[in-house]
Amino acid sequence: MKILGIVGSPRKDKGLTDALVQKALDGASTVGAQADVMYLMDREPQPCIHCGGGCFQTHKCAVEEDAARRSQEVYESDAIILGAPVYIWQINGLTANFIDKLRLQDATPPCRTTNARPALGISVAGGTGSGLISAIQSIYKFFCLWGFYAIEPLPVTRHNFESALQTAWNQGKLLAELAEGKRNFEDIGSCLAHYAKLPLLRFDTVDEMLYLSQIITDNTTVNDANRQTYNNAIEHQRTAKALIADGNRIEAAHHAGRAYEFAREAYDG
Ligand SMILES: Cc1cc2nc3c(=O)[nH]c(=O)nc-3n(C[C@H](O)[C@H](O)[C@H](O)COP(=O)(O)O)c2cc1C
Repeated sequence: MKILGIVGSPRKDKGLTDALVQKALDGASTVGAQADVMYLMDREPQPCIHCGGGCFQTHKCAVEEDAARRSQEVYESDAIILGAPVYIWQINGLTANFIDKLRLQDATPPCRTTNARPALGISVAGGTGSGLISAIQSIYKFFCLWGFYAIEPLPVTRHNFESALQTAWNQGKLLAELAEGKRNFEDIGSCLAHYAKLPLLRFDTVDEMLYLSQIITDNTTVNDANRQTYNNAIEHQRTAKALIADGNRIEAAHHAGRAYEFAREAYDG
């Protein structure tokens, strides 16, 4: 059984994305999977220029030979892990170029496949932390379009990086276990329904900011110097949650923003 880890960060061997993808592959290896890594930085995927060369039929790119090789490596895998760094609230361009050119011989977009490979997506927002959800949503839309059988996403920031390493290991192991059996979606609706079960994919930017602020406060060491700021963050989180429950997302946005600012202040000092 082959599990392919795809690293979308240009920072090979020293980036957070690489470390997380490697951890997930370690988890997969414990149940006997063969773990392979594809570094997009080494493959230099080029932007799709919409040349009209028939790539959805041929599964080859008319202007870039390596695109077909990358697709073949995914095709030959029983499951994949895709890790991307967050640049400007989105997956980075290197990962987007890879995504734009993937063509699978056993799938027809949207959502039609004869082999729903298990897939894990990891987004890594190592700066402000913001954008971790919008980036993971891009990865999971790509998974959904090609009919991958996605497992729970792993959005990571520098604030929860240490605990995320353990989660990556667990998720990698689960992925390899799922890859033992072949599965399919009956129809497009079954694929959509599978993704509809993943709550993070429904988040908007207000939910994201609130979620991020909670990640930060969950990972803050509270002391006399930051206690008040920390409490302010928690109070704004509560208010934002209550307003969201009442359907008042506009007012909730203000509190989510304040919750994030206080959380950052408490965490960074
Ligand atoms: C052009 C650029 C834009 C970035 N935008 C964001 C961002 O929107 N949110 C964030 O939290 N971090 C942002 N970062 C920081 C990266 O997410 C962070 O450095 C991350 O650790 C990169 O992944 P890597 O360590 O795997 O290379 C940005 C970095 C660059 C170079």
